[in-house]
Formats: sequence, structure tokens, C-alpha cells
Amino acid sequence: MTAPEVVAHRGATAGAPEHTLAAYRHAAAIGADAVECDVRMTRDGVLVCVHDRQIRHTSNGRGIVSALHLAELEQFQFGPRRRRNPWADDEIVAVTDEPDVENGLVLTLDRLLDYITATPGTVRLAIETKHPTRHARKVEEALVACLRRYGLLGNGRPVEWAGKPAVRMMSFSQLAVRRMADLAPAVPTVQLIGKRLRPVRRELLNGAATAVGPGIGLLRADPAFVADAHAAGKEVHVWTVNRAADLDLARDLGVDVVITDRPDDLLHRLGRGG
Ligand code: G3P
Ligand code: CA
Repeated sequence: MTAPEVVAHRGATAGAPEHTLAAYRHAAAIGADAVECDVRMTRDGVLVCVHDRQIRHTSNGRGIVSALHLAELEQFQFGPRRRRNPWADDEIVAVTDEPDVENGLVLTLDRLLDYITATPGTVRLAIETKHPTRHARKVEEALVACLRRYGLLGNGRPVEWAGKPAVRMMSFSQLAVRRMADLAPAVPTVQLIGKRLRPVRRELLNGAATAVGPGIGLLRADPAFVADAHAAGKEVHVWTVNRAADLDLARDLGVDVVITDRPDDLLHRLGRGG
């Protein structure tokens, strides 16, 4: 059975603050196949790599991303000043005084793509759009424009690096996935699945996405979902796989991609560690 691809969740967050270039560089350096980033749209329409609606957990500022202009966000220090516990989403474990290697500026998707495309093939990218309702389809339109600028839209088929899509779009929103599939049919999409699987199982397997993305807890409860997804022609990308037992389950079920806060540990367990 083929081993799953390893995707570093928000960068290699055990080694550096999430959504910083330091975290993404670290993930690439240890051999992760891809990195994951969350994107939100600022008030003036710029895509930035921030997970939460608010910025207080990952910067020294206060406010809602979609209500602030990029210039306002850039007044705050991101990443190096604050660090979230990667295993407990709402817990800040340290306010660090690490050297400000990235100037502490909020990471824009453009800056991340500058890095990713500087050495094509080193590490691929999974982009999760967050809360598309406030800006409606502008988020997906901006994402498509961004991918076009970087030559990542594909033409009839995805741009591939080492035989895998260079970039994928993911969302919990079925509407956002449908919009992306309409706007950029060559970009693979992952329909993320939150708390409930059974009520929407059939709908997901027939949806627009090229892959489905359940949480690992959903697979523990419904392991047959992987075979059913494969039978429906969809890859299975599972999050967030941090424990050895969960990696074993994902491998046994034939999961295609595991998304993890601990890429170093999983790569080691897969016999790929340095
Ligand atoms: O990869 C999917 C995963 O990132 C979804 O959860 O909250 O970490 O964005 P969250
Ligand atoms: Ca995410």
C-alpha cells in the first residue's frame, strides 16, 4: 500500500510559530511533501495567512482580519511574538522573544507563494479558505487571480510537481468548493468535513471536490468512508494526524494524505525521516 503524503499543518508548527515563513521553511527542510495554510481576506481584498477570525492569538494586535486593511494588520507583530500550542487550539503557550526573522509582518499569500515557487517542487501547497461568507465569492476570485499570477492555475489539468498537484484548495464550505471548481476546474479541491459525517456522507461523495477531508475522529467512527470515497473517485485527506495510532489507522485504511502538526515525527515513522 502506498504511504500517504505528509502535509505540514500551518507549517511545521512544533518548530516555529504557525503561518510564518520560518514554519514553512522548516517543513520543507525536513522533507514534508506539502504545507497547509489558512487564508482570510482583509478589508481591502488581500489574502493573508491567518487561521482565526481575530488576530489576538497570533499577534500583539486586536481586531478582525476582514475588518482591517493590510496596512493596519502590518502595524502588528505576527508569529515571532506569540506561539499557539499546536495540540490545543486556543492555548497560548509562550510569548516568545525569538529573533524577528520575518520582520513579524502578517504573511500574505503572495509572500508564501513567492517562497513556494522560488524552488518549484521542493514543497507543495494546500490552501484552505476560511469563512467565505463576508466577502462572498471575492475570496475564491482573489485566490484564482493569485494562482494565475504564479502560473499555478493549470490548463485542463493541474500543474504538477513530482507527479502531484503543486497546489490544492480546501474548504469546509461546500459553496466555496463549488465556486473554486467553477472558476478554476484544473485546481484540485478538498471538501473538508467538520463534526458530522453520516448525514452528509452521500452528498460529499457526489460533490464537486476532487477529494474529501474528514477529521481523524470521523474515520475512527466510520472507517469504511475511505473505501467508499475511493470508489467514488475521490482522494481522502485526513486532518489532524498527530499520534502514532492515528497514522497507523490512516495507513491501514489507505488514506492518501495526512495533515499533521508533527511532520518530523510522521516522516520518521514512515521511514522518511533524516
Ligand atoms: O487541514 C484541515 C485543517 O486545517 C482544518 O482545521 O481549524 O486547523 O483549519 P483548522
Ligand atoms: Ca486549516
